Amino acid sequence: MIDAFEKVPVQIFPSPKEGSAFVASEIATLIKSKAAKNETCVLGLATGSTPIKLYQELVRLHKEEGLSFKNVVTFNLDEYFPIEQDAPQSYWSFMHKHLFNHIDIDPKNIHIPSGKWPKEDIKKHCAEYDAAIIKAGGIDLQILGIGGNGHIGFNEPGSSFHSKTRVIHLDQLTRMANVYEWHDLNKVPKLAITVGISSIMKAKKIVLLAWGNKADIVAKAVEGDVTEQLPASVLQNHDDCTFVI
Ligand code: F6R
Repeated sequence: MIDAFEKVPVQIFPSPKEGSAFVASEIATLIKSKAAKNETCVLGLATGSTPIKLYQELVRLHKEEGLSFKNVVTFNLDEYFPIEQDAPQSYWSFMHKHLFNHIDIDPKNIHIPSGKWPKEDIKKHCAEYDAAIIKAGGIDLQILGIGGNGHIGFNEPGSSFHSKTRVIHLDQLTRMANVYEWHDLNKVPKLAITVGISSIMKAKKIVLLAWGNKADIVAKAVEGDVTEQLPASVLQNHDDCTFVI
């Protein structure tokens, strides 16, 4: 049932585990329907604490129920910059630890912005990342989390709704939220590469997951005005976006 104040459909689950299982089964259905037609399934993926249970469930579906990822192509939303690929805090490491090391995805189908792209060429690499998404046929299903400040990907408040993949200055709130991975705020990178809002909005279907202490920002994103000061509010303008909370 859609609440009168909700401008985006919201599905509420008793626990993150159940919400994650629901989203994992949606992903599995999509992967299998694409495989039946001999098509690739292009997934946009997020990192952070929110999707960990989703990735656990996808790994379980692979190991226990034979879900294959052979026809899956992935594009991650973001990466710290600069960072070594195999640094424990890199999103490359995160994705391999929680998902890619445990499934049968072809490594050449995995795309993650690189924290090692040379600074002088970064615009070219960002443009190539957007072009690679288009070449793959566009994102079939984009998984998002939401920052406490309303960011999606690392599109911090103030990001243009027309933004593309680019380098961004991380908000101090974002750096503080992620300090648990670094132990010392001074060590949290000040920059990141993020897929832009316009690229996210081109996804055919979007599912935003939120649990923990996100109730206030989710309410604003779902019920408030659409504003670049709250990037997730742009999702009100998407034809097929659901919040799973
Ligand atoms: C990470 C990303 C971010 C996170 C958001 C929430 O790839 O895109 O937008 O989804 O910062 O992070 P957690 O899940 O750690 O609360």
